[in-house]
Amino acid sequence: MSVDVSEKLRVIAIDGPAGAGKSTVSRRVATHLGFQYVDTGAMYRVVGLVAHRTGVSFDDAAALGVLCDELDLRFEEHEDGLHTIANGSDLSRDIRSAAAGDLASRVSVVPIVRERLVALQRAMGEARPTVMEGRDIGTVVFPDAPLKVFLGASVGERARRRCADLDARGESADADEVARQIAERDQRDSSRAHSPLRPAVDALTVDTTDQSIEGVVEHILTLARQRGVG
Ligand code: DC
Repeated sequence: MSVDVSEKLRVIAIDGPAGAGKSTVSRRVATHLGFQYVDTGAMYRVVGLVAHRTGVSFDDAAALGVLCDELDLRFEEHEDGLHTIANGSDLSRDIRSAAAGDLASRVSVVPIVRERLVALQRAMGEARPTVMEGRDIGTVVFPDAPLKVFLGASVGERARRRCADLDARGESADADEVARQIAERDQRDSSRAHSPLRPAVDALTVDTTDQSIEGVVEHILTLARQRGVG
């Protein structure tokens, strides 16, 4: 029996810790293939930030569930990049702050938040060919994704990249402090009970510490072609 390619799930799952290069690599792979790009970290950042701003406690699962159900979340491609619009407000810049990252990490351990966002992510990936980046895409959101990549890099290199990002935003940061926060975030993300950060058994692990972005992108495009996803 032949399977129509258009009926196959066309999702490339890219997981890994903060600073491993997921966003840059995923966006470029998506652009090359003409796929939609979904940044699931941005979704957790939005929920954390909106909950914080509207005074919803992270201990109040019911209220967080309502917040997720009522959230009108859209990603819009603009000339200067991808914009994240939540309930009509452009939160693209706000969600990139260190504080929003911390809120995201804390709200992402709440089961009802994960349940709601995973459902949304599945609907997005099933609707169109997609490159989806996050922590649990290959393990939980799309365990049947035809290509799963787990990106990693040393804590020192990830701290260096994070400092450069913050610097570009005009925020100063102490490299040792950033490295400490990254190690702490890794620990929290990989030890939580629900969907801990870990590679799927069938994920291909790529260490980006000493690799160029172009090299990693080319590697993933080759794998995508080999698997008939690209
Ligand atoms: O990738 P990021 O830094 O934007 O992610 C922010 C936080 O959201 C991070 O601490 C882990 C969490 N997250 C998650 O739990 N699951 C995902 N699929 C994506 C992000």
